[in-house]
Amino acid sequence: MSDAQRGKTFYLETFGCQMNVLDSQLVEGQLRARGWEQLRDHQDAEIILFNTCSVRQHAEDKVLSRLGQLKHVKRRRPDLIVGVIGCMAEREKDDLFVKAPVVDLLCGPGELNRLPTLLDEALERQGNVTALAGSLSRRTEVLERALEYDSLEALDLSRAPADDEPVLQSYIRVQRGCDKFCTYCVVPFTRGAERSRPPGHIVHEAEMLAARGCREITLLGQTVNSYVHQEEGDPVPFAKLLERVHEVEGIDRIRFVTSFPADWDEDIFRVMRDYPKLCPYLHIPAQSGSDAVLQRMRRPYTATSYLKLMETARKYIPDIALAGDFIVGFCGETDAEFAETVKLVREVEYKQIFVFKYSTRPGTAAERRQADDIPQSVKAQRNQELLQVQMDIMQRQKQLLVGQSVEVLVEGYSKYAKRAQKQTAEDAAKLMPSEQERGADVAKQSGSDSGTGANDPTRQLTGRTPHDVITVFNADEDLIGSIARVKVVDASPLTLFGELESITSTRRPARAAAAVTDEGTSLPILS
Ligand code: SAH
Ligand code: SF4
Ligand code: F3S
Repeated sequence: MSDAQRGKTFYLETFGCQMNVLDSQLVEGQLRARGWEQLRDHQDAEIILFNTCSVRQHAEDKVLSRLGQLKHVKRRRPDLIVGVIGCMAEREKDDLFVKAPVVDLLCGPGELNRLPTLLDEALERQGNVTALAGSLSRRTEVLERALEYDSLEALDLSRAPADDEPVLQSYIRVQRGCDKFCTYCVVPFTRGAERSRPPGHIVHEAEMLAARGCREITLLGQTVNSYVHQEEGDPVPFAKLLERVHEVEGIDRIRFVTSFPADWDEDIFRVMRDYPKLCPYLHIPAQSGSDAVLQRMRRPYTATSYLKLMETARKYIPDIALAGDFIVGFCGETDAEFAETVKLVREVEYKQIFVFKYSTRPGTAAERRQADDIPQSVKAQRNQELLQVQMDIMQRQKQLLVGQSVEVLVEGYSKYAKRAQKQTAEDAAKLMPSEQERGADVAKQSGSDSGTGANDPTRQLTGRTPHDVITVFNADEDLIGSIARVKVVDASPLTLFGELESITSTRRPARAAAAVTDEGTSLPILS
């Protein structure tokens, strides 16, 4: 290691989806494993990395604006290395060096295993360096692809959470890339071909995370239900993978995102019904309720077949929580076509939907062949309308839960509590020491709730039900990591408000690090 590379400090900011969150965790682990220090603020970092998203123009604009802000930092510190990693690096390629001259390094999501070496190069020669999948974005060279794949696998298997990094809930990748090529979507170009990871590797990661105290895992893939891995000639489909992950001791909850409505295998519903760790939650984007729009999007199903699938889901798991994504204002979307989407949303009664205004992406089939002809104002208005329809549904759904008892995995303090804690600390800092003591006395004498803390905003914890409903309630900090029963006393469309009833199972402490290594889960470090 040269002097240039020794003991560096880095800052990493993540944009985009869960895949990027996971990639960032893996990259951070690799850089820390080389003795580099991760900083929470970019101001003093010697290396600044942005892990980027290209799914909509807005996502890219945010990154461009952050890069613009770095211009003056780079002027002050010319040795600073600025790296753009992830989907935007892959999509823009060398053009990004022109658009944002502060950038020194580009690394695509399929090349992240090469990032440490790439950073070394950048530090050595202070010139632009790149690791991208190539102009075709899909490798054709079989041998090269196999070698790269092994190396990418090593990156996933190298996961090394920092001591202070919470692992209560973790992501595990089951699939890379996507082969669906929906006409609007950039992901197949940025993430490359679809490949399913070996089940053994996935189970191994789940075991390693469980040993560190993880209780909930979310399996990640662009179309998880198309997962299939050939194991000694025998296909392991997604339902089988779920059964295997279910066996991992210590994991209490299993979720998976995202599912693709076509080619659904009913066996997945059977596993969801019969295996208790499988959460009754399914994120399965419809994108539109109009068959004509679905066809233009190259989504190979109809509104009727989608609704039928939701019906089957409810037959197997009657209380299943359904979630979906919708794109409004796609090329040529008429009022009547949009009305079909509204109708579908009303019929399904989702637990939650994510609505996106269509954003044309360079290089996609829609960009080449279909006009982005819906005015921004119409997109915005349809976006609002669809969200309002869903808001009414959620209002009704949540009210039905008032008076019931729900089970939550306690994640930590709520945002509200964190704000209140910050405020309390700031207020306390403003008081003179004598006043602080007096304040404590007054609280004691007046018999305020400081004893039970029932109404103390600084004690509000947050957790999620198996249906992924956010639930807040007051309790002691040491409940974090436990599974608890909470009585719902009030509800808003997005959140349940409750009172702690009982503790189902207490936090699972991490097993000793030595034990983890004994089980053969020592962590490979990439050069
Ligand atoms: N693989 C997942 C989705 C990945 S992208 C799936 O197929 O379900 C996440 C969401 O972003 C998509 O579901 C879609 O609703 C939205 N999206 C993708 N491309 C978009 C575009 N060009 N404009 C607007 N929204 C888009
Ligand atoms: Fe994009 Fe379609 Fe693949 Fe999802 S399935 S990532 S929307 S191409
Ligand atoms: Fe964005 Fe890439 Fe994820 S484009 S949504 S970060 S796969």
